[in-house]
Amino acid sequence: RAGSALSGKHVIVTAGPTHEPIDPVRYIANRSSGKQGYALAAALAGLGARVTLVSGPTALDCPDGVERIDVESARDMLAAVEGALPADAAVCVAAVADWRSEGVAGQKIKKQKDGLPDLHLVENPDILKTLSALKESRPDLVVGFAAETENVTEHARAKRERKDCDWIVANDVSFGEGGSVMGGDRNAVTLITAEGEVSWPEADKEQIAAQLAAEIEKHFR
Ligand code: C5P
Repeated sequence: RAGSALSGKHVIVTAGPTHEPIDPVRYIANRSSGKQGYALAAALAGLGARVTLVSGPTALDCPDGVERIDVESARDMLAAVEGALPADAAVCVAAVADWRSEGVAGQKIKKQKDGLPDLHLVENPDILKTLSALKESRPDLVVGFAAETENVTEHARAKRERKDCDWIVANDVSFGEGGSVMGGDRNAVTLITAEGEVSWPEADKEQIAAQLAAEIEKHFR
């Protein structure tokens, strides 16, 4: 878009859940729909950015003008993000599974007569932290999300420090009836930067995305 500081800037957005295989038919996953990340990718593209959307499995269509790379697991997602570098900004919206099964069985694991299968979990790579720690190719702006259910801004501020990212978008995933953020259409967030924080009222994920995209555009002015 003419006059947008995001014109020609490359932004990587991660979105959706990850699926961590256990055997050929089973996986570990979470309730992320990908809506917030896809909405952000669309908003950034609307402001003229070249957007690479690295997406876990979702039911959503790729937004117009966005290049999507489909991945399944956290390790695939990290490899795709690294492959998409260099970027001016990276926004990690994906709900990456924290753990995966250490081994992936080649055949469907059979129900056992006595006892349960021995699932051993190991930690997944942290994509946001990895991006933030890059030396040469660190994007100028690295943004993370923090889904919290209590002491939201306090936990999110600590997360910003721990992950070494520039901004954190904190959202209270317990708001609404029965915690309707994950998979739902609405969100309420606080943007936390080194300078301070600003809370935006509850809104559609598209509106939240437009506000965040506008802040990112401002950063590049
Ligand atoms: O630590 P936590 O999962 O709450 O952090 C959330 C933020 O970190 C989100 O921006 C998410 O996309 C990112 N993240 C990641 N890789 C992980 C775990 C989280 O990029 N393995």
